[in-house]
Amino acid sequence: MIPTLEWTKAGVRFLDQTKLPLEETYVLATDYRAVADVIRTMIVRGAPAIGVSAAMGVALGVLRSQATDVEQLHHELHLICETLAATRPTAVNLFWAIERVRHAIRARSTEPSITVPQLQQVAVAEALRMYDEDIAACRAMGAHGAALLPRSGSVLTHCNAGALATCGYGTALGVIRAAVERGHQLHVYADETRPYLQGARLTAWELLHDNIPTTVLCDNMAASQMRAGKIQAVIVGADRIAANGDVANKIGTYGVAVLAKEHGIPFYVAAPWSTIDMATPTGEQIPIEERAAREVTHFHQRQITPQGAGILNPAFDVTPAKYVTAIITERGVLRAPYPAALRAMEAEQKTTAAVSA
Ligand code: MRU
Repeated sequence: MIPTLEWTKAGVRFLDQTKLPLEETYVLATDYRAVADVIRTMIVRGAPAIGVSAAMGVALGVLRSQATDVEQLHHELHLICETLAATRPTAVNLFWAIERVRHAIRARSTEPSITVPQLQQVAVAEALRMYDEDIAACRAMGAHGAALLPRSGSVLTHCNAGALATCGYGTALGVIRAAVERGHQLHVYADETRPYLQGARLTAWELLHDNIPTTVLCDNMAASQMRAGKIQAVIVGADRIAANGDVANKIGTYGVAVLAKEHGIPFYVAAPWSTIDMATPTGEQIPIEERAAREVTHFHQRQITPQGAGILNPAFDVTPAKYVTAIITERGVLRAPYPAALRAMEAEQKTTAAVSA
């Protein structure tokens, strides 16, 4: 399995995605500030991977804390969580993951004789549990979604929603992997995904790693390929799904969804429940990260735009729910109307959690 991120005794070890596919090198983050830098600089990226990295960052911060009592630990916990939460604004998994570790620590802190070392172990255990759950969720999405993909043909994907964007297996690419494992004869078109090239660099690298035939195409080539009947389905990941089913994902996803609808091609979104944000009513309220102009103005350290040109670099866009054929989660497949489908799945999950508590 591709080792996207890993908890070690020395710290959190990350496969450096800024160097792929040319170099397979690793970065060791030995404190929570280093984990925050790794997320901000996109050494690790992809919503689920960002979430678990942040959880490990909180655990690392708590573990390295010199606090002598529980109250002091809580002061530090606040700073640790704030620092990690300030890294990237769009993927809701980041905030979900930080809250989950914080909540685990708080819940145990009320015990009268609880000690700092015990709370440190609580934090580490919770982060490791989230790592395992993420891989299990990807496998479950694969199992639910595989049958939606054609028995044979080509599937288009945008950005990288694979093992590299998760703790392993992937969301959209996990569904593709699961379909291939079940005998589907699939070929993947990977949009290059300007400006950061997650498709050209990362999706192509990881699919070829698994011997899944892959063709990279520039983002502006998808339309003609669809018109020529070369693409039978589209599947992408998500950074945040609002309560009405609007989907925030890598910039360019919206255009792909509109094209898919025009050409009668199904457009699937695969995402774990931690990407669904029931507190955000529609895509309008999803914060869109604006990244540095240099990602657009430069290519391989060389400037490609004239000095003084205005530059836009929103990292994500929002695809309205009406373009989404189905949302594949680890709990099952959702179809429109999404507000009701999402509410029903949330209620079902709350009931299951209450029964098992
Ligand atoms: O800026 P990135 O590379 O973190 O953006 C990643 C994406 O947009 C992915 O499609 C999304 O996080 C889903 S990953 C399973």
